[in-house]
Amino acid sequence: MATHTTEGERYLHVLAVPFPAQGHLTPLMRFCKLLLKHYQNRGSLRVTFLDFYPPNDSADHSFSFKFHHDRLLQRVRFPFPNFSQQLPSLQTFFDSLLCIESGLHQLIQFFNCHGLPVTCLVTDFMTTFPTQDVADKLGISRIALFTSSASRLLLINYASQNDTFSIEQVMDAINSTERRDEVFCDSVPGLPRLLNKDLPQFKHITDDTRTVWEFANRSWKACNSRAHAVVLNTFEELEPSACGLLSDDCDVPVYDVGLWIESLSGDTSTSMREEDERCIGWLDQQPTSSVLYISFGSTTMLSKGQFEALLHGVIDSQQRFLWVLRPGLIDDIDYCSASKEIISRSENRGFVVDWAPQLRVLSHSSVGGFLSHCGWNSTIESIANGVPILCWPYFADQHMNARFIVDEWRMGLQFKHTGEGGYLVESYEIETAIRSLMEGEEGSILRKNAHALKQKSSQCFESSGSSLLKLDALIKDMETSIQ
Ligand code: UDX
Repeated sequence: MATHTTEGERYLHVLAVPFPAQGHLTPLMRFCKLLLKHYQNRGSLRVTFLDFYPPNDSADHSFSFKFHHDRLLQRVRFPFPNFSQQLPSLQTFFDSLLCIESGLHQLIQFFNCHGLPVTCLVTDFMTTFPTQDVADKLGISRIALFTSSASRLLLINYASQNDTFSIEQVMDAINSTERRDEVFCDSVPGLPRLLNKDLPQFKHITDDTRTVWEFANRSWKACNSRAHAVVLNTFEELEPSACGLLSDDCDVPVYDVGLWIESLSGDTSTSMREEDERCIGWLDQQPTSSVLYISFGSTTMLSKGQFEALLHGVIDSQQRFLWVLRPGLIDDIDYCSASKEIISRSENRGFVVDWAPQLRVLSHSSVGGFLSHCGWNSTIESIANGVPILCWPYFADQHMNARFIVDEWRMGLQFKHTGEGGYLVESYEIETAIRSLMEGEEGSILRKNAHALKQKSSQCFESSGSSLLKLDALIKDMETSIQ
């Protein structure tokens, strides 16, 4: 990795390329801020972060610079053809990623001409094609950020090396809804026994399961052989087997340097929607640990049946709740009527927003539980704040995350799914589970376990904490390869 010298100052210039979706933008920005924070006493590091935006027309290839108040972090508006808040078909999305290759070359060229050469790419695992290709062609190191769990990467690593774990078997397991609870494989080293329903799948949103499996396997092979290092947003104490095995077995150095939440307050937002701060004022007026926070992240969609079952369950549980009703969350029901229906039936126990400042919500003392789709960011944000989770996973890594939340970390409950291909839950079951989580004996045990994990997560960045040591090692690795 090369440094650059201007007037005697040596510095690394990192160009950060996210995968353009909320659940990926946030962890990359957090990692960049973490690097800046921990690098500040060692030398100079500059970070340029790409902000994708939908171009006005196909001829719009312009870049514009937006300097953050921290002079070491600058953001560049970068046109991206398919950028929107709703995911199109994943194949279309992956194809449009390839279109950024020439823009990236152009941008790096621009920096070269302006005396600030890019010395390292830090890019999302999902952008391996084309960012690894760009890095290789230009002789720049690339660090890949894997934004999901270490266990998910371990599964990709295993699947990409074992032909017995074929895509046909995976598709068969995922498609047979009546065999959801059967064992798929109990011999993946470092992982608990995998049931059919734990497998990452995309059927529920775009039917792109095969595309994603193949894409992930190809991307991992490229990272494992060509990337400078891989960074994980997890910490050793949370996933000891997966972190250990990945460090030992991969050809590329793997640094589990998460969680990055603690050190990352501030105003460098990557939120694609405006956060409704009014809910914090409402939370201020509620008793301690009394509110159930309900959110399904940025892309999950609920059917009308799921929404109605959930609404009944939440109302009948008689608990206070804060519900994120993202526009587009529910099929066939518009935001206004869904929101009105929730509020009219809540008897002043509920508050609805279309997007919340989630970290502030989860750290609020009034919040006692999180009904979540179990996206990895939501999972670790809940862990960092000691909030137990009621799991309703939908796609991608969410089923596996739910398995860990319930069976490994014992900080959550999962519904028994019935109709709609295993995605519907009966309303009485939702009601019972909410009560158990919020006011039952079981709930207080889960809350205690969640608090114990919170303690561990906050220790990982204390002196000699596991993540701090890994981060030091990563930074040393960056520095020694600079010469
Ligand atoms: C997607 C996948 O669903 C997830 O499984 C994968 O791990 C990452 O990509 P997403 O569905 O958006 O992510 O879920 P999640 O990973 O939980 O990320 C959502 C992010 O949006 C979190 O950082 C959360 O704090 C934020 N958020 C969500 C808000 O800031 N406000 C909200 O109202 C809801």
